[in-house]
Parts: sequence; structure tokens; C-alpha cells
Amino acid sequence: MRRALGRWHRAHGRHDLPWRLTRDPYAVLVSEVMLQQTQVARVRPRYEAWLARWPDAASLTRAPRAAVIRAWSGLGYNRRAVNLWRAAAESLERFGAVPADERELRALPGVGPYTAAAVACFAGGRRTAALDTNVARVTARALLGEAVAPTLPNARLRAVATDWLPSRGARDHQLAVMDLGALVCRASAPACGECPLAGECAWLAAGRPAPPEPPAKAPAAPFPLTARFARGRIVAMLAEGAPLRTEEIVARLPARHRPHCERYLDALARDGLAAPREGRWELAGEGAAQGTSSMASPKL
Ligand code: ADE
Repeated sequence: MRRALGRWHRAHGRHDLPWRLTRDPYAVLVSEVMLQQTQVARVRPRYEAWLARWPDAASLTRAPRAAVIRAWSGLGYNRRAVNLWRAAAESLERFGAVPADERELRALPGVGPYTAAAVACFAGGRRTAALDTNVARVTARALLGEAVAPTLPNARLRAVATDWLPSRGARDHQLAVMDLGALVCRASAPACGECPLAGECAWLAAGRPAPPEPPAKAPAAPFPLTARFARGRIVAMLAEGAPLRTEEIVARLPARHRPHCERYLDALARDGLAAPREGRWELAGEGAAQGTSSMASPKL
């Protein structure tokens, strides 16, 4: 199965994705954090612009936090930008560079099990399973004959996915699994006729069983009604540059969010995204000279 997958991948894989042309753990970390919430096509130009501006952890660490938050705009979950900036600084402080070791990566702010495994494998070539939804689905189908429900992958799946990784070439294999999931073994309308694993796929042999019904959940609130939406709007206002009084921010929020504005601002301050100064709000680290302000280099 590995050989068939490898052959398919050499012919059909997404080899030109810019974060696959590097083994630099910093660059791979940037890409994986961006890819967590945004599609590949939208990440590509943002990743290239980021790396052109901040090619390494040292240059990112020297940047004022506000510049980093601004550069993240439109990528969603602004806290991830702050965590990435903190992770770069902490990497330099503790390890001298962004590590490729999974345990060291896990110690960095905002780096969870998936991201640590992805950087260790894609940058460091380590034999460790990075279970994103594509890898989880392909592994569950091909090797276990099961359709994974769209929930967190379990320990059994992790063990099987790890076992599937070859001792040499783990990186290529995992990228192949990821691409097979994105291009062929899709969640809906999988193209089994084009699949290099069709002859041995346990899921196909079992008649392509459907995933279990997910537990009934209350429908999610429409995005504009959520606190996350309102916080994003506030960060976008502050990113324009002019410091704003709380009343000015309130006035620019949709009416339903106005009563909660103070709470949103407190949360943004706690997350290191916004800061009060002289009675107005601004992006955290705004106006900090490169590398000189205490705001620009987190206390470690
Ligand atoms: N290549 C490496 N990591 C990736 C990811 N998370 N999504 C798409 N391609 C990738």
C-alpha cells in the first residue's frame, strides 16, 4: 500500500506548495498555524508575504506585536498570530531556533499535538503521525475499514497511522496520505475509481460504510452573532492605527454586541491583542520601536 501510494503521490501530489519546498522548522510552523483555519489557496500568498517580511524567528521576534497582529488580518483567530510571535521568541530563548523535536515544540505557546507532529515530520522528517482531518479519514478508511466521524481522532487511530509511517521516508508518506485525502479520498464523493489503494482498501471492501450519526447538537449561532466575530471587528478597528476610546469602539459595533464591548476588550487585553493607553485602546505593542520595547519581546 505504501508503494502504491508513493507512486500515486509522485505523479499527482501537490509538490509545489511553498511550505513543502523547505525543511526550516520556523517556516513550516508558520504554514501549519496558517493552514489550521484557512484554505491552502488563500494561505499560499499570505505565507509567502510573511516569509518575505520575517524570514526567520529572529526577525519575527524583533517585530512589534502590533505589526504581527496587523499582518495576520483576514486569517482569523488573531490570537494565533500572538502565539506564533511568542513561540518564535520562546524558541530562540530556550532552544536557539524553532525546534524540530516534537516535545520541544509542544512546550511552545499555541502549539498543540497536531502542529507539533506536523513540524516534527515535515521539517524534521520524524516518524510521527500528524492527524489532520484528511490523514485521519484516509487512515480510518483504508486500514480500519471505518468512516471517521468528524470528531477528534482517537488513540487507536493514532497508533495505526503511526504504524503506517515507514521508518525512512515518513515525511513523503504523510504528505501522500494528506494529498490522497484532499484530492481523492474526500469526505464526500470519494473517487475510489482513481484511488491507488482501492485494491486493498478496507473501507471499500466493507461497502463504504457511512460514518455514525454525530450526536445532535444545538445549531451553531450565525457567525456575526458570535463574540469571536465582535472581537475580530474590534481588532480590525484598532489595526487601522488610530487609538480609540471605548465609546468610539462601542459606536462602531453592531447594536447587539454593544452591551458586551467591555467584556470583549478585556478578553482581547488578556489575549495580548489589545492594550489600553492614556484612556484609549490600541493594538498591543503599537508604537513599539523594533526590538526595543518591553512590549516587543515577551517576558519569558
Ligand atoms: N503540507 C504540509 N502541511 C500541510 C497542510 N496542513 N495542509 C496542506 N498541505 C500541507
